Amino acid sequence: MSKPHILMARAVFPEVIDKLTQIAHVQINADDTVWTQAELIERLQGKQGVLTTGGDRIDAAVLQACPDLRICANMAVGYNNFDIPAMTAAGVVATNAPDVLTETTADLGFALVMATARRLTESEHYLRAGLWTKWSYDMFAGSDIHGSTLGILGRGRIGQAIARRGAHGFGMKVIYHNRSRLSAALEQECRASYVSKDDLLAQADHLILVLPYSAESHHAIGAAELARMKPTATLVNIARGGIVDDAALAQALKNRTIAAAGLDVFEGEPAVHPDLLTVPNVVLTPHIGSASIPTRQAMAHLAADNLVAFFTGKPLLTALNTDPR
Ligand code: 8YV
Repeated sequence: MSKPHILMARAVFPEVIDKLTQIAHVQINADDTVWTQAELIERLQGKQGVLTTGGDRIDAAVLQACPDLRICANMAVGYNNFDIPAMTAAGVVATNAPDVLTETTADLGFALVMATARRLTESEHYLRAGLWTKWSYDMFAGSDIHGSTLGILGRGRIGQAIARRGAHGFGMKVIYHNRSRLSAALEQECRASYVSKDDLLAQADHLILVLPYSAESHHAIGAAELARMKPTATLVNIARGGIVDDAALAQALKNRTIAAAGLDVFEGEPAVHPDLLTVPNVVLTPHIGSASIPTRQAMAHLAADNLVAFFTGKPLLTALNTDPR
């Protein structure tokens, strides 16, 4: 059988390309250009496989225009860039990259909780601007992490890893909300108690969002939800842009409806709502939740391993839909 053709939608580690070159003809994206849909479709012609990242959308229009495509391997745990029903209908396999990024992403989530509560960005800007001339009793005084109540919206692997950090590492009371509950054993292990969404909003000192993006989770946190939070509370979003109404959040930060926010993801990223750039009480990072070198390597290898498995007739590692082979 002749070698399949694989497209790398974005640049990745050279050793991952080498791995795929063993079994396929590989077209790389050497400049790491973010292609338009039309450019992606053009490059997908004659390709049976593609390694995508969270920004590369595979929908019905792409599938219809790329009849040779058989597998899309996402180098991300989130897969809201895939239209899974359309892929399944077209007989195209979808895979993602779960587990390998759980702890790294939880680390960044916790870093943002701490940076937001203790006002690290604001205070560093102040220092760099040469404004630090004396100590004062309330200079950049924020809120405590230890002993406070950590609220988690979502109950997936990253949420559980954050709960463990809060409960076991910082003596926090952990509460969470989700459509479905964790098992009693997992709740006990994470020392997390299930509460209603209203109670989560009202009781959390620090609220962190770790749920997948869907039509249902769109603007799960908007003006009404922010108004239910404590004025001293902080909000962290490491999940997906669109789960928070960024315009409403900027307004809430300006009005001090809540104390501060930490954001790694944004509606319409890499564009950031201009009002978020002008409020001081927000810590902003450019979607780096999984960005440690070993984790990014593991994610890229897992995506590549799914492609290798598919084209060498082996079981897929992390399939999202039914394998039509
Ligand atoms: C990725 C992510 O870096 O895995 C996810 O869902 O959001 C990040 O870890 C990003 O999506 C690029 O693939």
